[in-house]
Amino acid sequence: MTVPTQLPSNGSFSFSGRTALVTGGGRGVGEAVAREIHAGGGRVAVSDFDLDAAEAVARSLDPSGETAMAIALDVRSKDDFLSARDRIANAWARVDIVVNNAGLARRTPTQDISPEEFDEIVAINMRSVFLSCQIFSEHMKANGYGRIVNVTSLAGQNGGTVASPHYAASKAGAIMLSKYFARYLAGTGVTVNAIAPGPIDTAKGRLSEEQIARVEAEVPVGRFMEVGEIAAAVALVASDRGGFFVGATLDMNGGLYLR
Ligand SMILES: NC(=O)c1ccc[n+]([C@@H]2O[C@H](COP(=O)([O-])OP(=O)(O)OC[C@H]3O[C@@H](n4cnc5c(N)ncnc54)[C@H](O)[C@@H]3O)[C@@H](O)[C@H]2O)c1
Repeated sequence: MTVPTQLPSNGSFSFSGRTALVTGGGRGVGEAVAREIHAGGGRVAVSDFDLDAAEAVARSLDPSGETAMAIALDVRSKDDFLSARDRIANAWARVDIVVNNAGLARRTPTQDISPEEFDEIVAINMRSVFLSCQIFSEHMKANGYGRIVNVTSLAGQNGGTVASPHYAASKAGAIMLSKYFARYLAGTGVTVNAIAPGPIDTAKGRLSEEQIARVEAEVPVGRFMEVGEIAAAVALVASDRGGFFVGATLDMNGGLYLR
């Protein structure tokens, strides 16, 4: 089987004149999405609760800071979302695109998951999507334009391959929030959609050789998704041309789940 090489951020979609906020942009999928939007001519606020990582990505995109900035944003905090919105609006007039990408998986055995850990995962993966959509729907509605893309998971559709219950449930909630806000905003120029990825190559560092081989054997296409592939899908939905995606869940799972 041919294994494609890492796809570069090639800016296939134009983001000229657009501004974007990406959460969890310090590495992995969020970093790839930030690079894709920037390569398409957009201005990008790279946010993460790891500010050093966000700064490194933003600096590599544009050391002058004119078209890329770093923002400390913990997606558990409504105040952080509000101040990110204000900072971007002050610098670049408005926020056109929000990619809610930050997420966390814990593989704690089911019987050992504490109520606190359950709440933490829900706050990071699901409540964050609610807070972000709540805040940016008002801002975007007032501008008559917006694109919100929520990075969810195959785990939120069918339980996934190795997902824990709090992770799967929180991602299912994020998919439903995408549908809710899509309807809530339909006709305002603002769209909301979800991407539901299966295994992505960013997860390889967290898995043993044996687990990697097991996942590859399980995925019909025989490999993990590359970050460039999910970045391209986010770009499509987040672009001006993505306006007819409304409340969609884009399946990107290499054939693991067909519906
Ligand atoms: N990797 C996979 O196989 C896979 C599969 C399906 C879905 N996803 C989802 O895709 C998204 C990105 O995954 P990834 O593999 O790039 O993850 P990653 O762990 O490599 O990167 C996540 C980023 O989010 C940041 N982050 C974590 N908690 C945060 C918080 N509370 N506030 C702000 N930032 C925070 C981290 O600092 C990190 O930079 C996540 O939502 C994840 O659940 C991943």
